[in-house]
Amino acid sequence: MADLLRLVYASKINFEPASNDKSTDPVIAGILAQSRRNNEPNNIGGVLCYGDGFFFQCLEGSRPVVEQLYDRLLNDDRHREVTLLSKRPVAHRMFQLWSMKFTNVDAKIRQMLQIENLESFQPHSFSDLMVERLLIELRDASEKRRPAPIGRQGRGASARQAGAVRELMPGLVFATAAGVIAIVFGLMLAGLL
Ligand SMILES: Cc1cc2nc3c(=O)[nH]c(=O)nc-3n(C[C@H](O)[C@H](O)[C@H](O)COP(=O)(O)O)c2cc1C
Repeated sequence: MADLLRLVYASKINFEPASNDKSTDPVIAGILAQSRRNNEPNNIGGVLCYGDGFFFQCLEGSRPVVEQLYDRLLNDDRHREVTLLSKRPVAHRMFQLWSMKFTNVDAKIRQMLQIENLESFQPHSFSDLMVERLLIELRDASEKRRPAPIGRQGRGASARQAGAVRELMPGLVFATAAGVIAIVFGLMLAGLL
């Protein structure tokens, strides 16, 4: 894609988080539903990470579309202290299959915070290196770690199916060719050709 941009920011929630049970906070569930609805047609992808009252979000897509979204985000009253952590052109997306992946801060991320001497999830104070490390961790985090998946978006699912078909195609072509050759040989041996 021409002029692909990766933008990462931190923000603080502006709502009372639901009690700390296993299900996704309803406000966050609403944000994710809205993100997935809007991002897929706009060819935007990314990840949203929540913990300790803070958001860390990465947006990837064409520059004008990502910049427009960031302008909307700055005025969204579900969060405040929206602070840009990184904004740079990139050659490839890290979150190709996701219109908006979601992860709660989990044990693995807490371990990373400890190494950085951070007692809680405070994305505003992340170094550039920590931003990059966290993005890699979020990219590699398995889907199992997402709490209560909310409408996995179509692009991811269809892209995975297309990928699976592409992977199987050489095998199918080979098996079909081998079958045809075997039949021709069989017919020749039987004296029918
Ligand atoms: C933390 C956070 C992350 C958000 N992420 C997205 C997003 O990825 N895509 C999006 O369209 N809106 C996102 N929003 C919502 C936007 O700020 C805005 O409300 C929305 O884009 C407006 O869309 P609408 O015109 O369909 O109502 C997010 C809001 C918050 C608070």
